[in-house]
Amino acid sequence: MYVDTHAHLFYPNYNNELEQVIERAKNAGVDYILVPGTDLASSSQAIQLAETYDFIYAAVGFHPHDTAEWTDDLIEKIKLLADHKKVAAIGEIGLDYYYDFSPKELQIKAFEAQLDLSLELKLPVIIHNREANDDMMEIIRKYSGTELRAQFHCFAGSLDDAKELIAMKHFISFPGNVTFKKADNIRKIVSQINIEHLLLETDSPFMTPVPYRGKRNEPAYVALVAEKIAEIHNLSIDDVARTTSFNAFKLFGIGSKNNLSFTYKIDNSLYVNVTNRCNADCVFCDRKGEAIIKGYKLKMDKSQEPDAEVYIKEIGDPKQYEEIVFCGYGEPTIRWEVVKQIASYVKENGGKTRMNTDGHGNIINKKDITPELEGLIDTVSISLNSVDPEQYAKLMRVDPKMHDEMIQFAKSAKKYTHVVMSIVGLNEVDTEKAKEFVTDKIGVDFRVREYF
Ligand code: NI
Repeated sequence: MYVDTHAHLFYPNYNNELEQVIERAKNAGVDYILVPGTDLASSSQAIQLAETYDFIYAAVGFHPHDTAEWTDDLIEKIKLLADHKKVAAIGEIGLDYYYDFSPKELQIKAFEAQLDLSLELKLPVIIHNREANDDMMEIIRKYSGTELRAQFHCFAGSLDDAKELIAMKHFISFPGNVTFKKADNIRKIVSQINIEHLLLETDSPFMTPVPYRGKRNEPAYVALVAEKIAEIHNLSIDDVARTTSFNAFKLFGIGSKNNLSFTYKIDNSLYVNVTNRCNADCVFCDRKGEAIIKGYKLKMDKSQEPDAEVYIKEIGDPKQYEEIVFCGYGEPTIRWEVVKQIASYVKENGGKTRMNTDGHGNIINKKDITPELEGLIDTVSISLNSVDPEQYAKLMRVDPKMHDEMIQFAKSAKKYTHVVMSIVGLNEVDTEKAKEFVTDKIGVDFRVREYF
């Protein structure tokens, strides 16, 4: 379930015990371990480990601590090591002005040379940064718009830095320090970063999580980091494991690409992905992109859309879930007949149903479908997106008259079932205004929804 993306298993303090350390990792659910080198010798050791164990991958490079004697010819040597098929990244590289073991100029020189090498080899990088934030951000900004993809390991920047790095498609990770008693500032940053941009790591043998703090760290303890992130994000450990493992696959190519999901579990609810088609084309939606949510791949074309029976079989006993939710990257009322068949199965078997919709179902189906909601869909959640028809039209790339269509749908639907209207947390949208509009003018419940 887990990928520990940062464990220096070549350290001498594992010498006589590596077999047991690896066995404990396996027992704790660690599927893959990425071992980053810090100089030529340890990079070779990382490769040796990767050759010995099929679930271990290596990264090769010079850590800032080890750049005191940096010379340009070292790049060719790293390049030779990186040619190995189990080398997944260039790392660990970066800047460390805290210990200052090597002169700043050499640190920067080595760092930039290795970033350039990663571009040449089309490999991601693993970045270490300590007390060098300004220089780090300045250097990384120079690579904005290139193919550079990085993991900011043991992230030490500000929330604004994190947002900027994520916008540049980099990933962030935190080791055991998220569990430290006094690390509220770190947990606050973690809470603001969507799980889709996080990786798991231990930084073994350092940064040991609570309750083993002070002892030697090891990959098995990545479960404790995952547990803490799950707690911070109010997600299940499975959700954190699946999403971060998929992120590790996206960045490092470690693990396997998951298959298309017709139903997918998040927390205690089961989501039903009836279609990827939509009558709108929202600016914030990744429907035409990868269409992946929390590690589940939802992208499918019309020919792949299964019949109701396939979904019903996957649902099984609906009572085992809090809710069965019709929600994917498409508009479910496009397959209203299939939704009704599945919903009637769920209701007959004691389950609860919800449908997330854009509220254009009557136009899509060329009839008033709201009376059919009764007894089949317990809650209809309609995306309000904006109280302003023009802004609505811009966000969803639909005709402005669809705003009124959506409102009429909500007003009519509330005669037959529980209706909630929601907006995503976009800055341009005035949340307070939306709430007033929904509760006073339409008379249904209001909720702010997150998006990524
Ligand atoms: Ni490290």
